[in-house]
Order: sequence, then C-alpha cells, then structure tokens
Amino acid sequence: MMRIAIFASGSGSNAERIIEHFASSDLGRVVLLLSDNPNARALQRASDRGVPAHFFSDWAEAMGLLQEYNIDYIVLAGFLRLVPSAVLDKFKEKIVNIHPALLPAYGGKGMYGDRVHRAVIAAGEKQSGITIHRVNARYDEGDILAQFTCPVLPDDTVETLAERIHALEHTHFSEIIEKDIKL
Ligand code: GRF
Repeated sequence: MMRIAIFASGSGSNAERIIEHFASSDLGRVVLLLSDNPNARALQRASDRGVPAHFFSDWAEAMGLLQEYNIDYIVLAGFLRLVPSAVLDKFKEKIVNIHPALLPAYGGKGMYGDRVHRAVIAAGEKQSGITIHRVNARYDEGDILAQFTCPVLPDDTVETLAERIHALEHTHFSEIIEKDIKL
C-alpha cells in the first residue's frame, strides 16, 4: 500500500477527488495533505475527510512531515512552488503534477491557474486539455505520463474553460496516479 501525500496551495478540488478515490483502494491511501498556504481550502477539505492536513512554512518542516508519515509517493495538485532537490532526490520518479493545459505549450514559471486559460483563449486555440507529468527541478518539464484534451469553444471565458478543464482533471488524475503506483 503506497502512502500518498498531496501538496496543494489552493482550493483542493483535485485533492478531494484523489482522497476519495484512494479511500477504497488496495494500492494506495492519501495519508497527508501539505500546503504552503495557511488559508488554502485544500487543508479543510482534507481534514473534513479525515486526512491529516498541515501548513508548512519551509521545506525542512515539509521533509520532516513526509518522514513522520512514511510517505512513498507525492502528488502535486494545484501546488505553486518548485520542489527542491532534496525532496526530488528522496522521491525519485515518485512525484507527479497536473497542469491545466497541453504541455509543453502554456507551461513554465508564472503559468498557472487562470493565467493559463487566458493565454489559451487569447491565442485562439481550438483545443486545450490537461497534462499529468513527473516533477523535476524545472516548472512543468518532467516526463509526460498522460494528456487529455477538450475543445475550446468560440464563446469560452476563462471561467467556462477552467470549469471544463477541472472536470477533465477530476475524471482522469486519480486513474493515472493509480496506474503509476502499480508500476
Ligand atoms: C488545477 O487546474 C491544476 O491543473 C492546477 O491548479 C488547479 C488546482 O485546482 N495546477 P484545485 O485546487 O485542485 O481545485
């Protein structure tokens, strides 16, 4: 049984789905949620579901918690910071992230949340989607595990596109994590 930690900086709707998915799995369990934002709704969503949730202010503290909870696998779900090399070294090939566009396009530093959708719409793209990838020392550049697409409609706003992308994330993220931890 893989002991999974989720890192989330914001709302945590993906975190919530992943927690629920693995609550009844034989392969893994979410046993910890960590946030760099003390006001993240993700913290509340996790503790409401019985998952220990902690704010951390520095990476030494986060590393201590990963050790204390015997974490095997890390999921970044709306986490906005770079993961330092100390964590990458310890969890080689065991950290995944989700990005709300089709990487390598619309990725990199500063490309997160609504900014991504705004850029996709401004460029007149007909299609967007999500990318689930391994995490390395650079923003959005690790090996891609899976991508899923959705249309961008002519009258889309940032909000309507974000909603479609979120639905895609909620449908697929847990399933790709499950495949990855089976390997
Ligand atoms: C998602 O769109 C994810 O792709 C991006 O941040 C958003 C997080 O949403 N990295 P939520 O906090 O899971 O609702």
